[in-house]
Amino acid sequence: MNILVIGGGGREHTLAWKLSQSPKADKIYALPGNPGMAGVAMCVEGIALTDNTAIVDFAQKHDIGLVVVGPEVPLTNGLVDAVNEAGIKAFGPTQAAAQIEGSKAFSKSLMKKYGIPTAKYEVFTDADAARAYIHQEGAPIVIKADGLAAGKGVIVAMTEKEALQAITDIMEDQEFGAAGSRVVIEEFMTGEEASLLCFTDGKIIRPMISSQDHKRAYDGDKGPNTGGMGTYAPAPVMTEKMVQETYDKILVPTIEAMAQEGKPYKGCLYAGLMITVEGPKVVEFNARFGDPETQVVLPLLNSDLVDIMLSCADGTLDEQQIDWSEGAAVCVVMAAGGYPKAYRKGDAITGLTEAEAAGSLVFHAGTAHKNGQIVTDGGRVLGVVAKAQDVRAAVAKAYAGVEKISFKDAFYRKDIAHRALER
Ligand code: AMP
Ligand code: GLY
Repeated sequence: MNILVIGGGGREHTLAWKLSQSPKADKIYALPGNPGMAGVAMCVEGIALTDNTAIVDFAQKHDIGLVVVGPEVPLTNGLVDAVNEAGIKAFGPTQAAAQIEGSKAFSKSLMKKYGIPTAKYEVFTDADAARAYIHQEGAPIVIKADGLAAGKGVIVAMTEKEALQAITDIMEDQEFGAAGSRVVIEEFMTGEEASLLCFTDGKIIRPMISSQDHKRAYDGDKGPNTGGMGTYAPAPVMTEKMVQETYDKILVPTIEAMAQEGKPYKGCLYAGLMITVEGPKVVEFNARFGDPETQVVLPLLNSDLVDIMLSCADGTLDEQQIDWSEGAAVCVVMAAGGYPKAYRKGDAITGLTEAEAAGSLVFHAGTAHKNGQIVTDGGRVLGVVAKAQDVRAAVAKAYAGVEKISFKDAFYRKDIAHRALER
């Protein structure tokens, strides 16, 4: 079967890499893909990720049997619907179901209606009403732009002043464009965070191995929020009991709620969790695999990803065996100096083959070809991943890989997996 992967980041590199291990996979195409995928997929240029017609056309011409959608934007733009209408299978939710990520107001009201544990909240379209609510509730408090804001539309305000500033920035100065015309204001939750990515066929749901992201730019969880500076899996906070509790109180009720609402959810459901003293609560849902969570979760998957994805599309996930390996995986993101603010592009990257020879998997996130070399081309440039018998060994191996790689002004966090190591 020919497979088309949509997207070009580290997550999609990992998806293409894992899919390519399946005996069922013939040709794998990636749109737009990235230079790191050279060995596993053919990169397709010149088609916009939002051009559903052109993507369907490409899929028909290249006899694609499965389209795997990485990022949220094509999902909320209805790519899965368009692919299905053309009679081609897709892994990912429909446009209606992708609202679970595309609109925080939608996902919060779903959780409220079905009693799924999450932070208390209110939705506002009027800035003055939002300010009044902030005065009433006090800080700390969390302000979220309703729509997609590339992971940046959340302000965790430790003071009322910061919260009020966020209202001005998001609602009046439109810092995140139309995504901020509506905001969700919610209760601040305390606890340890974890990500639980799940496979679902709309009827049953199977959690993958848990993981933990590091969203802040600098060591010790300091500095600005980023797309994610590193991950590890499994997350020790997600004990077997905690996974079971999350399954019973959050995952199953959510899949049932989506079906009940006439928006059956298929694909990967990403539950961003806060493990509070009252148990697991939802921080957010994403309609896709996490980035860089995928980079540590899929290397631990022993089963055939093509089979799993087809069973999700076909509604036969109950017949599917899903096995995970023992041990742990760690991903250290190497970023361009200055990220998440302005950063350089076009600097040559060296040591990629040496890092791989040392036992790391190197997933490309923001790279390009220039004059026969691989150069930096994004804020998050690479994800260096290692698998080992435990998290400590995986950390050592991943950083050994990182040491081999260099490009001008590269920076990375030195404390990935610190929470697991401190336990
Ligand atoms: P999100 O984009 O919704 O995942 O939010 C980004 C980050 O903000 C999360 O990973 C949390 O660290 C933090 N956050 C979001 N909502 C809350 C909340 N209600 N309480 C505490 N922290 C939160
Ligand atoms: N790693 C966070 C996300 O994918 O949203």
